[in-house]
Amino acid sequence: MRYQDIDWDTMWLESRARKSWKKKKSSDWDKRAAGFAERNLDSPFVAQFLAHLEVEPEWSVLDVGSGPGTLAIPLAGQVRRVTALDYSASMLAELEKQAKAAGRDNITTVQGSWTDDWQTLAIPRHEVAIASRSLSVDDLKGALRKLNDWAGKAVYVVDRVGAGPFDPDLFRAIGRTFEPGPDYIFTVNILYSLGIHARVDFLTLDSTRTYSSREEALQSYRWMVDDLTADEEKLLTAYVDARLSRIGERWQLARQTPPRWALIWWRTPG
Ligand SMILES: C[S@@+](CC[C@H](N)C(=O)[O-])C[C@H]1O[C@@H](n2cnc3c(N)ncnc32)[C@H](O)[C@@H]1O
Repeated sequence: MRYQDIDWDTMWLESRARKSWKKKKSSDWDKRAAGFAERNLDSPFVAQFLAHLEVEPEWSVLDVGSGPGTLAIPLAGQVRRVTALDYSASMLAELEKQAKAAGRDNITTVQGSWTDDWQTLAIPRHEVAIASRSLSVDDLKGALRKLNDWAGKAVYVVDRVGAGPFDPDLFRAIGRTFEPGPDYIFTVNILYSLGIHARVDFLTLDSTRTYSSREEALQSYRWMVDDLTADEEKLLTAYVDARLSRIGERWQLARQTPPRWALIWWRTPG
């Protein structure tokens, strides 16, 4: 067998079809916007991502699948302007609220999808394009090509490593099998097939995370499971409670598998 005989696109599609969670619609993300913002805007993930990003103050950044501005808001303090593209109106409303609170007035929000015509959306080419934890697409190659075309200097993509943010032990505890679906290695190989030799860095978050309440800790686990039944909810609660400890006013939760992400990046031909 030769490397070029491997059909990464088909393998990616097949692995995706087996994954344990459903693809989310914009309305699903709308419902999650406030909770996602609460859990992620101050996550240690942000500092780890930004430590790897090389940007100049006069550059602009296109953030695809920006969510509530996890990266767009801190980035707006480092560059001339940021365009935040997301198909969830509630995520963009969260972003606008948080940007205002942070005093950032150089972010343009655009409600749109990976598959929309970005020219029709009047999105210009930016120096840098990023897509963090937002590559939820049916055509991965097309999405990667699009990012490459819209970036004059560099592209940064954050993709899952193995289970990514999911806790496989939770699935075992509630009696479900866990199938993580395709992770970053597919993306790196599909980029290779496009003639793009990307670099990869790894962002590993702490396996212990602190929460302001037990309910917040429970919420941060509930999002992992689609269509949680009442029996599964009880098992999930027992799983979380067994790992939670109270430290003063805060709650600390330790898991076996720390969340891991791959930061895939490359310089574009310009
Ligand atoms: C997990 S959040 C990531 C948010 C942010 N980039 C981060 O790293 O925290 C995924 C975001 O991608 C958006 N998204 C998912 N599929 C999308 C699509 N097809 N078009 C545009 N946005 C999409 C969702 O609405 C959500 O805000």
